[in-house]
Amino acid sequence: MSAPDWITVCAVADIPALGARRVRRPDGVDIALFRAESDRIYALLDRCPHKGGPLSQGIVFGASVACPLHNWTIRLDDGHAQAPDEGCTPVFAVKLEDGQVYLRRDQLLAPIAALKTASCDAACADAA
Ligand code: FES
Repeated sequence: MSAPDWITVCAVADIPALGARRVRRPDGVDIALFRAESDRIYALLDRCPHKGGPLSQGIVFGASVACPLHNWTIRLDDGHAQAPDEGCTPVFAVKLEDGQVYLRRDQLLAPIAALKTASCDAACADAA
């Protein structure tokens, strides 16, 4: 198996502190890059697991984001909704190097169904 191919998408400084920035994906559903406390960077599909709200427009606090539509809390590390809500949005691997943010090319190009299988289904299986 070959090493993942990482591509730079922006600088950490391009993401507002406690905010988000979107990265285009070819299938039309963006990735939301979040800059949390201590400049931790997370990447989630920009689609709330509830009714598809744009998580990039939400409020970042701690290691979570509050969806702007109905205020569900989504964890930035694994994309899961906070109980009692249930659901998961796919997460993307992030690499930081010299102040630049990198995403994996294969994940950027993957269809959403494959992302859910690789990210949410595996995480849900772990939690079961
Ligand atoms: S769409 Fe996100 S909480 Fe409803």
